[in-house]
Amino acid sequence: MLRSLVWRPLALRHCKGATKTAQKAFTTSTLRPQQLPGEDEQTTHFGFSTVPAAQKEAKVGAVFSSVASSYDTMNDLMSLGIHRLWKDYFVRSLNPGSRNSEKGWNILDVAGGTGDIAFGMLDHATNVNLDLKTKVTIADINPDMLAEGRRRALETPYGNSKRLSFMQANAESMPSIESNSLDLYTVAFGIRNFTNKDAAIREAFRVLKPGGVFACLEFSHVDSALFNAVYKRWSFGAIPLIGQLVTGDRDSYQYLVESIERFPTQEEFKAMIEDAGFVTPGAGYENLTGGIASIHRGIKPI
Ligand SMILES: C[S@@+](CC[C@H](N)C(=O)[O-])C[C@H]1O[C@@H](n2cnc3c(N)ncnc32)[C@H](O)[C@@H]1O
Repeated sequence: MLRSLVWRPLALRHCKGATKTAQKAFTTSTLRPQQLPGEDEQTTHFGFSTVPAAQKEAKVGAVFSSVASSYDTMNDLMSLGIHRLWKDYFVRSLNPGSRNSEKGWNILDVAGGTGDIAFGMLDHATNVNLDLKTKVTIADINPDMLAEGRRRALETPYGNSKRLSFMQANAESMPSIESNSLDLYTVAFGIRNFTNKDAAIREAFRVLKPGGVFACLEFSHVDSALFNAVYKRWSFGAIPLIGQLVTGDRDSYQYLVESIERFPTQEEFKAMIEDAGFVTPGAGYENLTGGIASIHRGIKPI
């Protein structure tokens, strides 16, 4: 019911383009896609602040270490539970285990944090495609988020299964993962936190098999001015306040909403995926809930 009322009417619409001056900066040809005016090769953004690029990883690490234990509860509060519908749709649309099921899929869930996407992939492969061979590795840079994922995995059928594994890794360079070895690379609500998003997408291209799929679920940009005004009021007004009241940590949630604002538009992010060598099928992305989130997909050419 919630799905049809809240999600469906707004899903699958495509954004017509950027609306904000800051976002337009991403298309300026001499700038790196995630670079904003006032930034150079040595600096990047951390929310609305410009920081030395070398410091961003530690700052993002501090945010996720701080929020790890309350991450799932806060996700439900901040999104009014809608993140579950988005993640569920993301998994179903990728249909893991649907082909090559005699071997199963080799999936890497990058920035996999507390495990929602990985558990969903394994549930779908098992229960929908009757595939018991598909396996998922959760890769995340943050040991506290991985610890939370391991704890939650024990509440699933996969806690002690060889089909689920965890690794601590920076998405921008994962030398322990062989080139051309994965069927599917997923990243959900992770890539906007990376210091060098282009490097991470290139790394995704390297590790995927030809024909393999890069799939990204991320907060994005709302395509209706009226809806955007309501959404911005909620995100900037309520989310840091909820963070303060529930976790005592306003700053981390302020960063989360600012990082969403800083993320490239749907079209800009699609161009980044194509620049790495992927073919983007159809429009290249699907908007969910009017563009609050979007799913981008890229296929590594055969
Ligand atoms: C908002 S959480 C998303 C967790 C999970 N994918 C989900 O959808 O609930 C973002 C995750 O990105 C991870 N992360 C941030 N920078 C990273 C990087 N450079 N490489 C790998 N993971 C990173 C954080 O540690 C955190 O667990």
